[in-house]
Amino acid sequence: MKSFEFYNPTRLIFGKGQLETLKREVSKYGKNVLLVYGGGSIKRSGLYDEVIAKLNEAGANVTELAGVEPNPRLTTVHKGVELCKANNIDLVLAVGGGSVIDCAKAIIVGAKYDGDVWEIIERKAAATDALPLGVVLTMAATGSEMNSGSVITNMDTQEKLGWGSAYSFPAFSILDPEFTYSLPKDQTVYGIVDMMSHVLETYFHPEENTPVQDGSCESVLRAVIEAAPGLINDLENFELRSTIMYSGTMALNGVLSMGVTGDWATHNIEHAVSAVYDIPHGGGLAILFPNWMQYNLKVNPARFAKLAVNVFHVDPAGKSDEQVGEEGIQALRDFWASIGAPSRLADYDIDDSQIDAMVEKTLKFGPSFGNFAKLQADDVREIYRMSL
Ligand code: NZQ
Ligand code: ZN
Repeated sequence: MKSFEFYNPTRLIFGKGQLETLKREVSKYGKNVLLVYGGGSIKRSGLYDEVIAKLNEAGANVTELAGVEPNPRLTTVHKGVELCKANNIDLVLAVGGGSVIDCAKAIIVGAKYDGDVWEIIERKAAATDALPLGVVLTMAATGSEMNSGSVITNMDTQEKLGWGSAYSFPAFSILDPEFTYSLPKDQTVYGIVDMMSHVLETYFHPEENTPVQDGSCESVLRAVIEAAPGLINDLENFELRSTIMYSGTMALNGVLSMGVTGDWATHNIEHAVSAVYDIPHGGGLAILFPNWMQYNLKVNPARFAKLAVNVFHVDPAGKSDEQVGEEGIQALRDFWASIGAPSRLADYDIDDSQIDAMVEKTLKFGPSFGNFAKLQADDVREIYRMSL
């Protein structure tokens, strides 16, 4: 286990009826609120009206930024920054999924930065301040509700970059599983794949002596695998929505990753696909992750075997670690296929024509990446080819 320091300042408010706390939370920060949301799902579900009613109770002056795209665009961030500056905003309130929250994170940092916030996202400048951010979550997937990460797409340069800072944690996040009832089956599946991928990125680390971390990761994976099949056939099941929502937060709020260095190569590889083809993040991961695993099985077969046995109940008797690990990878493929996730880039009509461009994007910050296994251009190219 590595030495570590853990800090997470987000107040997590979870459960049925917790929107009641919005007035109390908003009142801590001031009257001028920028309400950020996506393409209209919160209007269709009625959540928009509920949030506005609570903001009115709090006496807030509400400015709105609607239309945040899935895979949020830098241009929308810029609009939000302008609105903050023009309206003397005290609090940004993101109501939506990971895209809305990530956009809001870039807005809160950009509002306190004199240059273009893209400089911070590109790691050419550091964030030094931010407006406070509140969240009402409508989709269980990214964990953005309780972490400092954000992913923004610059359409001009066709880049989708992850970034984070000590200033971009939400101050509070309200999670009512009922707000995810309206999430359609395909998006529910993408969210499940995404949160499982976050646990897997954490699980594939190079450290030794990490029984608490590994056991906790396995436990979250088993819980998700148990809940998911029932949920996709019963989208308004409160208990199953609760399990999945809590799992999504736990998967990437830093708790599982204390003392370990997660791999995170597959996320980099997926972001390059989304940058070029604008596909859903969870869909891309469902295709790429099993192939990353297959490609790196030999790096540490015992770790793959541990996952296979403890999560997928593979019987190891009389088999090598590599054989057991291989069965675990197949079990993951089968599980994701069983809930309706895509398995090939061809499912999104993606062929090999942009592979070189995508490989180049994955190498923006250096000639290799990944922590469980270091990948270079040829390795990434091969993983894309395996995924076609
Ligand atoms: O835009 P609206 O109309 O709200 O519709 C959204 C969107 O079309 C819809 N939706 C969300 N909640 C709903 C709903 N529809 C009906 N009922 C609801 N309750 O779902 C669609 C997808 O939403 P989005 O926010 O894009 O999904 P997700 O939460 O998966 O976020 C994906 C983005 O997060 C990034 C991804 O790369 C991608 O850009 N990530 C962010 C991370 C982080 N901040 O820590 C880590 C992740 O690994 C990921 O990279
Ligand atoms: Zn992810």
